[in-house]
Amino acid sequence: MRFRPLIAVFLLAGCLAWAEGMRPVHASKAMVASVHELASQTGVDMMRAGGNAVDAAVATGFALAVVHPAAGNLGGGGFLLLRLANGDVHFLDFREKAPAKASADMYLDAKGNVIPDASLLGYKAVAVPGSVAGLVEAERRWGKLTLKQVMEPAIRLARDGFALRYADARALRDEHLAQFAESKRIFQRDGNYYEQGEIFRQPELAHTLERIAQNPDDFYHGAMAGELAAAIQKGGGLISGDDLANYKVVERRAVRGTYRGYQVISAPPPSSGGVALLETLNLLEGYDLHALGSRSAMSIHLTAESFRRAFFDRAEFLSDPDFTPIPVAQLIDKQFAASWRESIDPIRATPSDRLQRPKFEALDQLASTRAPAAVHEGGNTTHLSVVDAEGNAVAMTTTLNDSFGSRVTVPGLGFLLNDEMDDFTIKPGVANLYGLIQSPANAIAPNHRPLSSMTPTIVLKDDRLFLVLGSPGGATIISTVANIIMGVIDFGLDIQQAVNAPRFHQQWMPDELRLEKFGFSPDTLPLLMKGGYELNPTGYWGDAECIAVDPRTGDRLGASDGRNGGRAIGF
Ligand code: DON
Repeated sequence: MRFRPLIAVFLLAGCLAWAEGMRPVHASKAMVASVHELASQTGVDMMRAGGNAVDAAVATGFALAVVHPAAGNLGGGGFLLLRLANGDVHFLDFREKAPAKASADMYLDAKGNVIPDASLLGYKAVAVPGSVAGLVEAERRWGKLTLKQVMEPAIRLARDGFALRYADARALRDEHLAQFAESKRIFQRDGNYYEQGEIFRQPELAHTLERIAQNPDDFYHGAMAGELAAAIQKGGGLISGDDLANYKVVERRAVRGTYRGYQVISAPPPSSGGVALLETLNLLEGYDLHALGSRSAMSIHLTAESFRRAFFDRAEFLSDPDFTPIPVAQLIDKQFAASWRESIDPIRATPSDRLQRPKFEALDQLASTRAPAAVHEGGNTTHLSVVDAEGNAVAMTTTLNDSFGSRVTVPGLGFLLNDEMDDFTIKPGVANLYGLIQSPANAIAPNHRPLSSMTPTIVLKDDRLFLVLGSPGGATIISTVANIIMGVIDFGLDIQQAVNAPRFHQQWMPDELRLEKFGFSPDTLPLLMKGGYELNPTGYWGDAECIAVDPRTGDRLGASDGRNGGRAIGF
């Protein structure tokens, strides 16, 4: 057979591409993992230029607002978890909040029925954005570079454009974007859709970013705030200039727990993520998952039962901590988990409507006053992880909620606005976009932050940085992060294998076990059905962008999620 160099090159490139998604990316100093190569590269460039993990995270965050408009954003909100190399931990909450004029029944009609899409599409679905304040504050407090330096790449990407990847070009065809003239013009070229490989330029967004870099206060207190509020009010939204002026980033105490001796640091309320994650892990600590094996029917069963109980508590107790006391310490107490564990049948699923919380001081009093209501979640969000050469680490998750948020682009300013109002309990008993049931304490009220599932998380081994994790996926964020932690700690997978492993999810209601369609053994599924599970196989979900630190060598091991074409880049 004749040797064909061209074919050999293609085969080699194919093998390398395969290998890239199969094994972690190794680097000795620093690493960024995000859903877009250009955004990850931006973060890496900052660290090469002398910046630290915060400079890299902020630069990557602004770049994602340009190259990943479905979820990267200026008009949304998020959470940033920072662990400095000296061990100090900071958690910035830049979650959106309800405008002052918001009210509990604002998405209900005169008969008290939910108005379809009212909390999802258009100006009225928009909550006061926090992302610009969050990124600017993180940069001001912990960055080594200037705001202008970390925003420069995003400005360039918006002004000069970038080549659209296949999936991104297809995503821009979203039918709801077409409902809003400015969104249709910018993202869909007025119906002449972008194709893969075409250069996508966003001059209005470039100008907005330049204005923010020049004067970050402009977004909340200056001319830009005026333009934003005027546009929203003209569109029928509730956000006023005062809402913008009153927006505040809040530094909160991260939740902390342990899992089989590893320390887990994660997102506190108004995220449910850290509490539900720790509660799940506490429950699982009672089982020898390693012996049961990854994705065996038995380990899936015990994990699903743990999720079921953690989400049951999530539905009842979690909301905005600035307005309602949240029993965080009780929910993440190992004794509480031990009591809950007694209700887990070793082989059969517990029907969700028969769950009975064990008696536990402090929770019992609160429980009687808080009957859960239904909540749902959906759409798109994006997570990035960074570790720098000193060992500082950032896990940041940011969202517009749904893909492209409310689908509203602010005329003249070039960025999309969130539809985070849908994360509130729109009506007791009615599920949100993600099918989630939530507490009446999460009802819409002026200035409240809606409950989130975003779970930026850091895991330590012997007090040293070990994992930096997070994902989009609404309620499935929590199970995705838990499954990855278990993958590494219980099943001995490397971080890339743990990210790649097929995902499953249980969230109390609906009473079903969601599984990624591909990757589970056909021998396993009938066993689960026999155990009483209703299976809901779905395509795939999430986009975990993670980093592990090799405890022996200190190497940074980047694991981007092949499900969405992300990229981990290091040096
Ligand atoms: O904060 C939350 O929990 C939701 N707004 C997140 C939405 C999300 O992750 C959608 N991603 N696929």
